[in-house]
Amino acid sequence: MPTVVVNGVSLEGKLGERLIDVARRNGAHVGFVCNGAGICQTCQCQVLSGSASLSPVNVFEQAWLSENRLNEGHRLACKTSIRGEGTIEIRTKAEDLRRQVLAVVNPPADSNPVAQLGPLVQYITRMVGDEVLRFPLNAVNAFRHVNPSDLTAVFRDVNRYLSDVSRVTKTTLNNTPARPHLTTSPQVIQIEAPK
Ligand code: FES
Repeated sequence: MPTVVVNGVSLEGKLGERLIDVARRNGAHVGFVCNGAGICQTCQCQVLSGSASLSPVNVFEQAWLSENRLNEGHRLACKTSIRGEGTIEIRTKAEDLRRQVLAVVNPPADSNPVAQLGPLVQYITRMVGDEVLRFPLNAVNAFRHVNPSDLTAVFRDVNRYLSDVSRVTKTTLNNTPARPHLTTSPQVIQIEAPK
């Protein structure tokens, strides 16, 4: 059975399952605002290892993620499924950002809030450049591929959506580290190019 390590926690996955489903089922800290329709980017994650066991980059990921992000192993968890056995390790953008903020609010013992502010500002600046400024064009490209029924899926199963939101929120709040670990610099991983 494949193992998916999400933000440092080992979880069981199944062949064919999407990364977002493994994370949601276990209350891991991942965003899923659009419920997997491929239009919100909140499920973005970085694959740290095991990329060979994942589906190739698809049209939604090509639309939303810059070439640099793709080269660093960033994926949309709702558009990436498990294709092989072994261990896959990912870090979600939601948790990455949370840890950056926590590091400023409650810095590691050998640091201080001002020193932690630099990495956070750098992180947000990159996010603005890669995501906010490119949003209009990326959205046009992504919406061309959206399945209309995916847009309304959340209304067909509101209970599951809300219960997943509640579980992810509870788990995340319970896992707030006293002294957050700063993220390491991004690893560069080559992802198989789309056919
Ligand atoms: S959940 Fe919205 S793009 Fe993946």
